[in-house]
Amino acid sequence: TKHLLGIKDLTRDDIQLILTTAAQFKEVLQRPVKKVPSLRDVTIVNLFYENSTRTRMSFELAERRLSADVLNFAATTSSAAKGETLLDTVNNILSMKVDMVVMRHSASGAPHFLAKHIPAAIVNAGDGINEHPTQALLDAFSMKEKLGRLEGLKVAIIGDIMHSRVALSNMYLLRKMGAEITIAGPPTLIPKYIEEALDVRVEYNLKRALQWCDVANVLRIQLERQNQPLFSSLREYNLAYGINRRLLESLGKDIVIMHPGPINRGVELDSDVADGPFSIVLNQVENGVAVRMAVLYLLAGE
Ligand code: CP
Repeated sequence: TKHLLGIKDLTRDDIQLILTTAAQFKEVLQRPVKKVPSLRDVTIVNLFYENSTRTRMSFELAERRLSADVLNFAATTSSAAKGETLLDTVNNILSMKVDMVVMRHSASGAPHFLAKHIPAAIVNAGDGINEHPTQALLDAFSMKEKLGRLEGLKVAIIGDIMHSRVALSNMYLLRKMGAEITIAGPPTLIPKYIEEALDVRVEYNLKRALQWCDVANVLRIQLERQNQPLFSSLREYNLAYGINRRLLESLGKDIVIMHPGPINRGVELDSDVADGPFSIVLNQVENGVAVRMAVLYLLAGE
């Protein structure tokens, strides 16, 4: 494939190759000279129709470390704000001889639509409530780095599953790699079909999910994607599903805490957990650069 649209389209071997290549790039990133010439003369546009801190910076850094030429597009400061269509926007950018498009959009399927209409390689950097494939890859890389394996690993994915592209990409990836998954959160934020469709367990009791798992991947409550609030208040959410130090200490075992960011501090994670000894949140962000280098490098080679 010449695109990365979602984890759903990848095989176990594809995922393994990306993770192995990312490990090599992580080694490169530890050196004094971090830049490699692999993507010299390749031009990449980061096309962001939705806000981002981590993903956009991480892709840009990955592209620069690979010696690509980089263009950045943010919808809010572009002529998209004057009503220019997505296809017109991209075709105009491509006419400047751009080779790859890294794209974030609030509409699920937007990168798939583009892939049908333009000749450039497309990397999905998050599409609506569908997928966020590079997040799942960097999450998997970080779990494997910390715990040594994915096969047989017990992963709890906690919180707003209904609106989470991170959850969906993680579920596809972890099942393909042989991890066990428990989805935990309030019934209003967990789609009913998920257990059967994705071969995961559902647990509405947070403490039971934490006692079972090796890793908890904790998600952000995404109020911006809820037409009407699906939980009565953030305070109540925190009381029932927020993770704090006291709760972790009551488990009688160590678990790894992950979060894709941005964190709602005091809602899904208290600061004493987000910044505590079990958290690998900033390792995830560090690993994101190596993982995105691997994805871009492998796509450019095709
Ligand atoms: N994890 C993640 O996608 O963060 P951003 O929205 O800041 O890119």
